[in-house]
Amino acid sequence: LKFVCVSNDGIDEHMVWLIGLKNIFGRQLPNMPKEYIVRLVMARNHKSVMVIRRNHVVGGITYRPYVSQKFGEIAFCAITADEQVKGYGTRLMNHLKQHARDVDGLTHFLTYADNNAVGYFAKQGFTKEIHLEKEMWQGYIKDYDGGILMECKIDLKLPYTDLST
Ligand code: ACO
Repeated sequence: LKFVCVSNDGIDEHMVWLIGLKNIFGRQLPNMPKEYIVRLVMARNHKSVMVIRRNHVVGGITYRPYVSQKFGEIAFCAITADEQVKGYGTRLMNHLKQHARDVDGLTHFLTYADNNAVGYFAKQGFTKEIHLEKEMWQGYIKDYDGGILMECKIDLKLPYTDLST
């Protein structure tokens, strides 16, 4: 089992994983148009943290780091159907936070959570109260009706992945 963070950089193995991930998103997020999923997963300004087991994608999170604003926007998050509620979603989020802090220099995440995923995000430290100044993110992230805006502050020092892997 491994956790990787990749973007569309033309490396064959990365492309195979990104296609596997967009297929999981397509099945697990039926309200999202498929073309929109492909566009963001393959966009060079987005990154995807994935769980890989025996070279197959188990799930992942695609996000856009706004480095100048120090926050990341989570676009999609899903674990494949038969592997949900086994803890992968939590470990994935911990790897995302560690990478975003240590590599991108981010301090916060924002996401529009689907109604049925609010419980999952709340367990990962996300709140419906937004503490980030509106000027920091307004105009950067797209307003979207189908979800609830949630925020997570990334701890400055916590070793997220030592605790979970
Ligand atoms: N509602 C409430 N609690 C949940 C949910 C949920 N939908 N899913 C998981 N949890 C809880 C679990 O019970 C667990 O609680 P515990 O720590 O007390 O045992 C905790 O959250 C973490 O569970 P994991 O096993 O780590 O979560 P999992 O691997 O299943 O991943 C995920 C969670 C990503 C939501 C997965 O269930 C999934 O892919 N669901 C379908 C797609 C989806 O809804 N994605 C999010 C859409 S919003 C967006 O993408 C921005």
